[in-house]
Amino acid sequence: MTAPAARPLCLDAYEHQARARLPADVFDYVFGGSDDECSLRDSRRAFDAWWLRPGVLVDVARCDTSVELLGTRLSHPLGVAPMAYQALAHPDGEVATARAAGALGGLMVVSTMASRTLEDVAAAATGPLWFQVYCFRERAVTTALIRRAEAAGYQALVLTVDAPRLGRRMRDLRSGFGLPAHVRAANFDAGVNAALGARASGESGIASHASRDFDPSLTWEAVEWVRSVSKLPVLLKGVLTAEDTARAVAAGVDGVIVSNHGGRQLDGAIPPLEALPEVVATAKGRCEVLMDGGIRRGTDVLKALALGAKAVLVGRPVYWGLATGGEEGVGHLLSLLREELELALALAGRPSLPSLDASVLRRRTF
Ligand SMILES: Cc1cc2nc3c(=O)[nH]c(=O)nc-3n(C[C@H](O)[C@H](O)[C@H](O)COP(=O)(O)O)c2cc1C
Repeated sequence: MTAPAARPLCLDAYEHQARARLPADVFDYVFGGSDDECSLRDSRRAFDAWWLRPGVLVDVARCDTSVELLGTRLSHPLGVAPMAYQALAHPDGEVATARAAGALGGLMVVSTMASRTLEDVAAAATGPLWFQVYCFRERAVTTALIRRAEAAGYQALVLTVDAPRLGRRMRDLRSGFGLPAHVRAANFDAGVNAALGARASGESGIASHASRDFDPSLTWEAVEWVRSVSKLPVLLKGVLTAEDTARAVAAGVDGVIVSNHGGRQLDGAIPPLEALPEVVATAKGRCEVLMDGGIRRGTDVLKALALGAKAVLVGRPVYWGLATGGEEGVGHLLSLLREELELALALAGRPSLPSLDASVLRRRTF
């Protein structure tokens, strides 16, 4: 008799199990980055560029991972990044993710391109939800989505600003990736779904849809516009520079998410962890600063928080948790990361998030 598969002990072990379970083209769609995947690799490597300077003989019998974000108290700073089409990994998709994130007292950002309706996800959620917005060529489509998100109780809007056009994701072009028939962009009609499901060699249904429907002419006016159509707090996702942070603050946003879209957009874009200090220095506490990209260990979270992020978002690992065990898999994966963060805080002698600052870091010299 073969022994049951061991429960993964860390996020990379989840990736390993998911790779074995998912169809190769689905794994590649989730795992991949754009062009030569330089940003994808560098976002991870950026965490290795820091050593930790632990403080000893600090009482760490209790470590407090709680944080307040836009007025909401969360039991930890690990949010779920917006990711499209989670039913690719498990039939319950975003509903399972929302249940798991909420059970652990954390935040989930739900993608415009979710495979369950934004109302279904809200009905299942027990924790706070933010809604990620892609701006469509037809503004009325975006307005309707924002109205639905407001009505369903979402607490903030996350406007993704790094994808006016889709990066060239070579894995998807090679596989001719399109959504399988059982996975839909649930917030949209049959026309959109026909585009997303189209399969052709050397093309990607996801890319064809984006170039057809996403607005490539977006400017800072769009931020004004989103703020004019909704009273919800607005965050910009995909900011990587001091210049854009200054403009975001001037535009009155409530937060920025330092991100290179998981290395799926501009290949060679600076790793988010490297961009974080200049964004934090420019924001000067006038808006929330979050980051995502390459978070796989509790020590990664600690480094991002020490460089000034208020919270981090976790992307692909959530997909691996879904593929491996649905809601239970995501819940276990997030709790592993939370426990790793708590242990890292304890061993670094920093028993709460406010006690973290850049003095816990030192640049690697060899
Ligand atoms: C499969 C997949 C789908 C994604 N879909 C979206 C999306 O719909 N909207 C968005 O703003 N970002 C999207 N992202 C980017 C994530 O929100 C996030 O920036 C990135 O995955 C973080 O890096 P990580 O995967 O290394 O944690 C997606 C990423 C992946 C891997």
